Amino acid sequence: MILYNGQFVEREEVSIDIEDRGYQFGDGVYEVIRVYQGQCFAMKEHLDRLERSSKEIKLDCPISRMKLEDNINQLIKKDRLTNGIVYLQITRGAAKRTHQFPEHAKSVLTAYTSEMERPLANLQNGINTKLVDDFRWLRCDIKSLNLLGNVLAKQEAQENQCYEAILHRQGTVTEGSSSNVFIVKNGKLYTHPANNFILNGITRQYVLRFAKEEHFEVIENTFSTEELLKADEVFITSTTSEISPVVKIDDQIIGEGRPGIVTAALQKKFEEEIN
Ligand code: PDD
Repeated sequence: MILYNGQFVEREEVSIDIEDRGYQFGDGVYEVIRVYQGQCFAMKEHLDRLERSSKEIKLDCPISRMKLEDNINQLIKKDRLTNGIVYLQITRGAAKRTHQFPEHAKSVLTAYTSEMERPLANLQNGINTKLVDDFRWLRCDIKSLNLLGNVLAKQEAQENQCYEAILHRQGTVTEGSSSNVFIVKNGKLYTHPANNFILNGITRQYVLRFAKEEHFEVIENTFSTEELLKADEVFITSTTSEISPVVKIDDQIIGEGRPGIVTAALQKKFEEEIN
């Protein structure tokens, strides 16, 4: 089923206008929420971020937060989803095409579920990545539908047999094309501060908490591509990738070429959290 402005309908019954602003301008916001064993993981944090993203682009959510939460839970039940994701987006709606906000458009909310298993092979063996220039706009903190910069970066990674692109702005590492990036050096964790250059990932925030609980020092500060390549351990975090160790960046093997001990300790905390 599809959640379509507060109603549950079949996919064929959804009619999105060709002048929907999400379709024409990418004028909207979205969230990807993980479902484990039929339960949403970190629903509150995702809906908080959705509210923030909407506010930043002056977009109204067509239904109340309470109703949305209830609708998402119903959607999971109706679809009998066990392991997967809920994809949810809100656009500014349909109106005659003008760049400025139209006066009479009504925002459009759609959500659907998709089955997805946990990325167990990546979690155990690690992933290969590619450094790619970060040429996105300067409001990467908003989870906006405009993902062309991310899409092109991920495609470049894939064309080079890599799972993820690690983005950098003039040698400063920002984040992945659809993930956040952490490095470990001499037992300390480093990650880009949550400012306009990155999306403040929900998984990132969990990792910061786990690190504190495990008494690892965390430094939310920028680091360079050079520091990245010389790190003892590197990992990426996201709703779908969880905590995935990075074992190779371009042609450079990271650490000993297998998941490191700090990464493994954080993965263990994550397992405990979702079970
Ligand atoms: N991507 N940075 C970017 C640019 C992202 O697109 C994502 C998530 C993250 C990690 O955020 P979180 O931990 O909240 O998932 C960081 C989602 C999964 C996607 O677009 O598919």
